[in-house]
Amino acid sequence: GKSGYDHYMLKEIHEQPTAIRQCLSERVTELEGCIDVDSLASVSVPDRVQFVACGTSYHAALYGTRLLRERGVPATAFLASEYDVDAVPIGDDALVVGVTQSGETADTMGALRGANRVGATTLAVTNVVGSSAARECDHAMYVRAGPEIGVAATKTFVSQQIALVMLASELTGEYGDELVAALRDLPGKIQSVLDASAARGIATEYRDSDAFFFIGRGYNAPVALEGALKMKEITYRHAEGFAAGELKHGPLALVTDRTPVFALVTGGSNPTKTIGNVKEVETRGAPVVAVTDGCADVERHADFVLEVPESHPALAPVIANVQLQLVSYWVANQLGRSIDKPRNLAKSVTVE
Ligand code: F6R
Repeated sequence: GKSGYDHYMLKEIHEQPTAIRQCLSERVTELEGCIDVDSLASVSVPDRVQFVACGTSYHAALYGTRLLRERGVPATAFLASEYDVDAVPIGDDALVVGVTQSGETADTMGALRGANRVGATTLAVTNVVGSSAARECDHAMYVRAGPEIGVAATKTFVSQQIALVMLASELTGEYGDELVAALRDLPGKIQSVLDASAARGIATEYRDSDAFFFIGRGYNAPVALEGALKMKEITYRHAEGFAAGELKHGPLALVTDRTPVFALVTGGSNPTKTIGNVKEVETRGAPVVAVTDGCADVERHADFVLEVPESHPALAPVIANVQLQLVSYWVANQLGRSIDKPRNLAKSVTVE
C-alpha cells in the first residue's frame, strides 16, 4: 500500500534515505574507510567504460561518466537506442555497463546483447534480481532500491547514482575518507530536505507557467536533465534541462517572465559561470529558483531558494535532485494529474 501517502511516487520519494542505506549496506566499511562491492570483485579495472541506458537511467549514466573520468577512467554514456556496436568500437578492455532499473528495457537489452556479441565485458546495474539484464550480462550489481510502483523513477534513480559512486570507487580504488563519510551522512541530509522542503510553495507559485527550465554544470548537468524529464512526465508541462553553458546557444530565446528557471548551484560546480547564466535569464524577467547549498551569490538573484545541505561535491547534486522531484510532484498534484500512471507511459518499456 501507499502507507498513508496520496501517491506511490511521494511514498517512494520519502523512501530514498532507506533506499540509500540498503544500497550501501555492507558495501561501505566505515571503520576501514573503504568501499567493497562483492559483485565487482572479479571485474578488472577497465581501460574505458561505455554506459548504455535510457531515460532516467541515462541521466544516472551521465553522472557515472563524470565519477569515472575524475578517477582517470575514460567513460562515455550512450543512449541505448543509439548504441551500435558496429559504429562504436569496443576495445578488449572496455567494460560496457547497462544501467537499467527494470533490467528489461528493450533498447538497453539490445545494446547489451550487441556488446556481448562482440566479446565485451558487460555489467548490469539494475534493481531487479534475476532480470534479463542481470542474467545476460557477465556481472550484475544490484542497486537495492526495493520495488518501485510509480511509473516515474525516483528512488531507483538515487540508488543508481549511489551504486555508480561505489562502482567508480571500487573499480579504481579511489574513494577517499571524505566520500565514505559523506555517503554515510547522505540519508540524513536527504531526510532533512524531505522534512522541510519549500517545494510545495514554489509549485503553487509556478504551476501555470509556460515552461520550466533547469540548468546546472558538472555533476548538476544530468540532474538538470532529470529535473526536466520528471516535470514533463508527471505534469505534462513543457520542461527542458540544459548544461548551464548551453542556455545562451539557443534555448535563451524561449526564456520569458512566464518560464521559471531552476538553477542548480552546489559546491564544486562552478558557481561563477552558472550565476552568469542566471543573470542572463533574470534580465529577461524569468523567475529564478536557486537550488543551492548556501551560495549567497546565486541566492541574491533568486526569487526562491530550495536548500541543499552541504555535502561532498559529487553528492550535493544527488540531494538537489530530491528537491526537484518534490517540485514536480507538487505541480502534478496541484494540477490533478495521474501521478503514478502518467498518460502514454509504461513502467517497463519492452519495445524498441
Ligand atoms: C523516467 C523513467 C524512464 C526509465 C527508462 C529506463 O521516470 O522511468 O525514463 O528510466 O524507461 O528504464 P529502465 O531503467 O528500467 O531501463
